[in-house]
Amino acid sequence: MKVFVLLLLLMLNKAVSQGERGEFGFNGYLYDSYGSANLDSNGLLKLTNYTEHETGQVFYNFPVRFKNSPNGTVSSFSTTFVFAIVSEIPTFSGHGIAFVISPTKGLPYSFPSQYLGLFNSTNNGDPSNHVVAVEFDTIQSIEFNDMDDNHVGIDNNSLISEKAASAGYYKEDGTFKNISLISRKPIQAWVEYDSSSKQLNITLHPLHVAKPKTPLL
Ligand SMILES: *[C@@H]1O[C@H](CO)[C@@H](O)[C@H](O)[C@H]1NC(C)=O
Ligand SMILES: *[C@@H]1O[C@H](CO)[C@@H](O)[C@H](O)[C@H]1NC(C)=O
Ligand SMILES: *[C@@H]1O[C@H](CO)[C@@H](O)[C@H](O)[C@H]1NC(C)=O
Ligand SMILES: *[C@@H]1O[C@H](CO)[C@@H](O)[C@H](O)[C@H]1NC(C)=O
Ligand SMILES: *[C@@H]1O[C@H](CO)[C@@H](O)[C@H](O)[C@H]1NC(C)=O
Ligand SMILES: *[C@@H]1O[C@H](CO)[C@@H](O)[C@H](O)[C@H]1NC(C)=O
Repeated sequence: MKVFVLLLLLMLNKAVSQGERGEFGFNGYLYDSYGSANLDSNGLLKLTNYTEHETGQVFYNFPVRFKNSPNGTVSSFSTTFVFAIVSEIPTFSGHGIAFVISPTKGLPYSFPSQYLGLFNSTNNGDPSNHVVAVEFDTIQSIEFNDMDDNHVGIDNNSLISEKAASAGYYKEDGTFKNISLISRKPIQAWVEYDSSSKQLNITLHPLHVAKPKTPLL
């Protein structure tokens, strides 16, 4: 598979829970990188280079407490980031990127390519992973029931997504606009969780478009 370069332009994260308000923006030293990931002093995170079958990971340096109440309820949280996928060959790229919430800093046993640096051939689908991810997947992997080669999915311990949709956004009038993940253009993504409704919303839009009111997922 051909390789891609990924630039994460901005990261802004927020975890809100009872009596605690955590907020962190992009700041190189707050992150640890693994594999081919590279923290640029200009505020760019470059996750991979043009070497094939590489995986790059960047993790926030300090654990975020998601269960902070006596009854163990998961806190509401939201995060947004901007990314661009710039492949060596403009029309073809492998395999995508993912936003991940993991109990460990780094996922050292994960595989590259269709595993997206999230899981490997033995732990994919294992409930003990405790990994939730949002994948931005640019290759259709039949083994993981991928719907197409340009989709967004919510992954719960598995690369077989719980929910998935072709990449795009809903305009005010309800019409759907496609987004090409490998367009090389910056794309803003939002991951928002509401603990009372236990709903996770994923929204994406081109940088020049205001945040859509209706989430994609
Ligand atoms: C890409 O990153 C890998 C891992 O750090 C490194 O071994 C390789 O030399 C790099 N390739 C290029 C073209 O910079
Ligand atoms: C759990 O605790 C939180 C914070 O104390 C509270 O807001 C929430 O309503 C509680 N949920 C349940 C199901 O008791
Ligand atoms: C997959 O990852 C698990 C850790 O989650 C590790 O124990 C296992 O050895 C890995 N399997 C392979 C094939 O690398
Ligand atoms: C996520 O996976 C875990 C473990 O398999 C399961 O207990 C949980 O119900 C799943 N959550 C959703 C929303 O499907
Ligand atoms: C949007 O993407 C879907 C899925 O790839 C495709 O079926 C459809 O033709 C695309 N629509 C436009 C307007 O490009
Ligand atoms: C998720 O989207 C639904 C539908 O637009 C909305 O009602 C809900 O408030 C959103 N929740 C969050 C946490 O953004």
